[in-house]
Amino acid sequence: EKEDTVSITVVGASGDLAKKKIFPALFALYYEDCLPKHFTVFGYARSKMTDAELRVMISRTLTCRIDKSENCGEKMEQFLGRCFYHSGQYDSDEGFAELDTKLKVHEVGRVSNRLFYLSIPPNIFIDAVRCASTSASSANGWTRVIVEKPFGRDSESSAALTRDLKQYLVEDQIFRIDHYLGKELVENLSVLRFSNLIFEPLWSRQYIRNVQFIFSENFGTEGRGGYFDNYGIIRDIMQNHLLQILALFAMETPVSLDAEDIRNEKVKVLRSMKPLQLDDVVVGQYKGHTEGGVTYPAYTDDKTVPKGSLTPTFAAAALFINNARWDGVPFLMKAGKALGSKRAEIRVQFRHVPGNLFKTKLGPDHDRSTNELVIRVQPDEAIYLKINNKVPGLSMRLDRSNLNLHYAARYSKEIPDAYERLLLDAIGGERRLFIRSDELDAAWALFTPLLKELEEKKVEPELYLYGSEGPVKAHHLAYRYKVQWGDSD
Ligand code: BG6
Repeated sequence: EKEDTVSITVVGASGDLAKKKIFPALFALYYEDCLPKHFTVFGYARSKMTDAELRVMISRTLTCRIDKSENCGEKMEQFLGRCFYHSGQYDSDEGFAELDTKLKVHEVGRVSNRLFYLSIPPNIFIDAVRCASTSASSANGWTRVIVEKPFGRDSESSAALTRDLKQYLVEDQIFRIDHYLGKELVENLSVLRFSNLIFEPLWSRQYIRNVQFIFSENFGTEGRGGYFDNYGIIRDIMQNHLLQILALFAMETPVSLDAEDIRNEKVKVLRSMKPLQLDDVVVGQYKGHTEGGVTYPAYTDDKTVPKGSLTPTFAAAALFINNARWDGVPFLMKAGKALGSKRAEIRVQFRHVPGNLFKTKLGPDHDRSTNELVIRVQPDEAIYLKINNKVPGLSMRLDRSNLNLHYAARYSKEIPDAYERLLLDAIGGERRLFIRSDELDAAWALFTPLLKELEEKKVEPELYLYGSEGPVKAHHLAYRYKVQWGDSD
């Protein structure tokens, strides 16, 4: 559905996420002519600012990503002309009532569909939802609220948050973002699986040895330590981004592409997994060092991190799905900050060819020569399949080569940012890429006992060097299941 009118209010307009992601995504949507004809964007935050000042602030982070021509500058002006600001407290009914008055001026004579993007810290979430829903919700159209993690810290706090949200909103109005679901290659997962004959028949324990979900960043917390220390890498990346990708990867074929059908299948996968035990996990934390005159800080050097913090900045985990399709197949996850490279990928390692005629030709590294499908979510998006191939020539020598779908070479159009897709879907009422509350509960149920145990037992993370490949124990974890982590090639 393409709505005719929408007012988008970014609550927490001067925050980092708003500046770096939300406003630029809205501009990109405007540029691509994807926004409803009558749209207005409101920034709402505590600081005093005029509309003109907001526009200057936003314009600093808008880019002509799609089209570098002069036309882009003109479009930018038009877009900025639709951006306004209202200053108010996040827990102020009065502030939101004033916003309501301003919104009405723009909506006069039309349906007032309203989208609120809460880009604010979790401790003020509920206050803002209360005020927005009681003082600024739409009188004659829909009101939707986008919320972003953290959705609590464990099962109990997440359930409490859901309960609180539902005092003011019904589930259909809540759009819980996991921005990894908006990434192009994650969106493509279902197409790859369900629209190609050659993958789905192999998508099971019969042919797949293990699946790996790898997230690595080559920078540390850098000033975000205050937030991060409260959560750690398991809550920051694994429980949401990696688990969501896993669920999409492993789910059964949904009845249709409808949001409810897809989310039903995802929940089933999550509920078929058993909660993680301490033994299934390795945790690490980066330490500083100096190399070639450059000093790399330790996590605990971050001024906003308490001294002696045991918060993991790295974790590796082995998960299992207890159903007919996946019984016994290790699903390995690895996520870390301050590692050697920045990448996010899914690696599917297939079984050996039974009775392989060419086994002796594969050389001593025979165990590593099974087929491997790699879905590189970022950077440099690609899908490639490692196959054994005869090296051209008169001798029978094999090597491993890639059948490679490299996005930059294949598609000339730039890949949209995840937030563009998600905002567009929220405006259109498409809920497929948003997390339903039962999915969230199931995701927390998997990680909560482990998180509690880590904290209660004060498990010390293995220290690893900033810029390295992370704790050695991550390899031990993989070896336990006769698995090797895929190389980043
Ligand atoms: C966020 C995490 O959800 O995702 C950050 O809180 C992380 O710690 C970020 O850096 C990574 O997102 P992307 O899109 O840059 O890979």
